[in-house]
Amino acid sequence: IRVYVPRDSAATSVGADEVARALRLGASYRDIDVEVVRTGTRGMLWLEPLVEVETPHGRVGYGPVSPRDVEELIDAGLLEGGEHPLRQGPVAELPWMREQQRLCLARVGVTDPLSPDDYVRHGGLAGLRRALELTPQQVVAEVTESGLRGRGGAGFPAGIKWKTVAEQDADDPEALKFVCCNADEGDSGTFADRMVMEGDPFSLLEGMAIAGYAVGAREGYVYLRSEYPDAAAVLREAIDIAWAQGWLGQNILGSGFGFDIRLRVGAGAYICGEETSMLESLEGKRGMVRAKPPIPAVTGLFGRPTVVNNVLTLVSVPAVLADGGAAYAELGVERSRGTQVFQLAGNIARGGAFETAFGISLETLVNGFGGGTRSGRPLRAVQVGGPLGAYIPAGQLDIPTDYEAFDAAGAMLGHGGIVVFDDTVDMAAMARFAMEFCAEESCGKCTPCRVGAVRGVEVIDRLTGGEDPDGNLSLLGDLCDLMTEGSLCAMGGLTPNPVKSALLHFPDDFVPRSRGES
Ligand code: NAI
Ligand code: SF4
Repeated sequence: IRVYVPRDSAATSVGADEVARALRLGASYRDIDVEVVRTGTRGMLWLEPLVEVETPHGRVGYGPVSPRDVEELIDAGLLEGGEHPLRQGPVAELPWMREQQRLCLARVGVTDPLSPDDYVRHGGLAGLRRALELTPQQVVAEVTESGLRGRGGAGFPAGIKWKTVAEQDADDPEALKFVCCNADEGDSGTFADRMVMEGDPFSLLEGMAIAGYAVGAREGYVYLRSEYPDAAAVLREAIDIAWAQGWLGQNILGSGFGFDIRLRVGAGAYICGEETSMLESLEGKRGMVRAKPPIPAVTGLFGRPTVVNNVLTLVSVPAVLADGGAAYAELGVERSRGTQVFQLAGNIARGGAFETAFGISLETLVNGFGGGTRSGRPLRAVQVGGPLGAYIPAGQLDIPTDYEAFDAAGAMLGHGGIVVFDDTVDMAAMARFAMEFCAEESCGKCTPCRVGAVRGVEVIDRLTGGEDPDGNLSLLGDLCDLMTEGSLCAMGGLTPNPVKSALLHFPDDFVPRSRGES
């Protein structure tokens, strides 16, 4: 009998390791032959630890299972998919799973992340094999045709970025170029990169190898945040296995193309997710932002042309190549093509990762699949795109998830993180937090951000303290404009977004009297 228990850190943080141990013990005590396979998570985090049992009707899920439940579950017939209050039914049939289009997450939660056999059996390597049959220019053309845009947040077309890198020193096949994967997933409410790295690491390595082939790079780096030790362990092992399998190395899949990947772990700075800061850190320096231009595609790591892409961008690439750019471009809306892994977090009844084509509304994600607030209280605001994303009030959730539609609404889709707040949230405190966060995480290179954020906290404190409301409000507006226009990078440039949206939609929260009453 085969039983699946996630090893993803979201699941182990709520006892998945203990559940796996209890299952092995319980089965051996009863002399039942059970193989416990550790997988990634399906992304239904409210059900973790989610135990799945292979049955003739597919994998049947039970969750959330605590180690104390295991004995009772085995006696109730868990190993045969039997009835129990924790039984969720066939996992693939659950609405949360059925309604998704999982490309990045296709194998996550399904396979053993470190099994090369599982990887290939579930479609792995199809993209790399096809890429190696094409010329590098054709691979870039496929990615361009797919409409794939950078999933780190800015949404820059990946094909154009790759073309820029490919064109540098194009006449010198020995020219040094790099592919850097930005895995410094720092946005609040985001965990999709981690989920993929822990649950399907080979897909990232495959995407990076395809990128290397397309642009003429033979070396890649994964820049991983230090807060993800489990992802680091999985990636290290995956890189070793990929070498042993001939998926990385001097002669990948017998094609003559050579590519190697190294893992580098950051030291806990949010700003190292900014691409030039990340490159500085990779070079062993302090994570300070570099002025652009030159862009990394021209002058990147160690001054060489470099592809910098987020984990989800690179993980989308094997799917683009396997099925062709045109097929990928059929998914999505307008200029937002393909799928996005939306991450539902904060005060939400059903939190987790939900991958679907762009275009689904925020309303459907938050109140439909997410089930509204966890507290059961009225939803008040949603922040999308990390700590520097705008707050969207409850009444305006009917926006399609599309980069341009969000832009038009004064918000940003970012990396797809969606954080939900109920009516107990103090929006003035959230605005203050944005400034405080910027002051804490600023790299210090430019004045509007380094000094502006500190002044921003002070002005909000004066405002909420009732001191000269008109004067301080006007000062805060000026400060926000200065930071937006004068900051060197998105850190200082985007910090005014949450502040201004909080002021626009929730002005009463900034008035001391109504703050006291609410
Ligand atoms: P950007 O718009 O300056 O650049 C986007 C990307 O396109 C960069 O890689 C840039 O080098 C590249 N690029 C621009 N012009 C190019 C050209 N002509 N040819 C080739 N490549 C070109 O945006 P930036 O500052 O890199 O990112 C800002 C975004 O980062 C924000 O919108 C925010 O959503 C996101 N963000 C994400 C975080 C996360 O944890 N994922 C954390 C903080 C911010
Ligand atoms: Fe550094 Fe902030 Fe300026 Fe960005 S905006 S360069 S983080 S000081």
